[in-house]
Amino acid sequence: MNILILNGPNLNLLGSREPDKYGSVTLDDILARLETLSAQQSISLSHVQSNAEHVLIDTIHNAAGTVDAIIFNPAAFTHTSVALRDALLAVQIPFYEVHLSNVHQREAFRHHSYFSDIAAGVIVGLGPLGYELALTAAIVKHNELQQ
Ligand code: DQA
Repeated sequence: MNILILNGPNLNLLGSREPDKYGSVTLDDILARLETLSAQQSISLSHVQSNAEHVLIDTIHNAAGTVDAIIFNPAAFTHTSVALRDALLAVQIPFYEVHLSNVHQREAFRHHSYFSDIAAGVIVGLGPLGYELALTAAIVKHNELQQ
């Protein structure tokens, strides 16, 4: 099984960025943990983080036919990007939306997501653990469908 971890703008700054909201764990720390979990289950992981919308869109297009599930933190694009939504609808790859912070406790503009209604699942407010839970969910769901 191939899983793509996709992270949007400013998530490269995790660890130093607004630690009161996002904690002190870096993106590399999160990826290392996901790699460990995947290796235990023979899952192949790929990762892309970009601050550019078109790079994220191209990555989703290129995932068609090779990637079985996407773990996606669209970051600020969550609240703005019809183009990323359309890309996910186009490729029809199941994806899990993850947010480190509880967006529903924050500014009103963060309460709306262009992705939640088309996601296979949504995890908010659990910090880095959210990525691990999403990875587990993606594997369990995929295995169920194979049976
Ligand atoms: C975020 C929440 C978004 O509102 C914000 O723009 C981010 C990170 C999160 O993981 O909590 O950049 O997606």
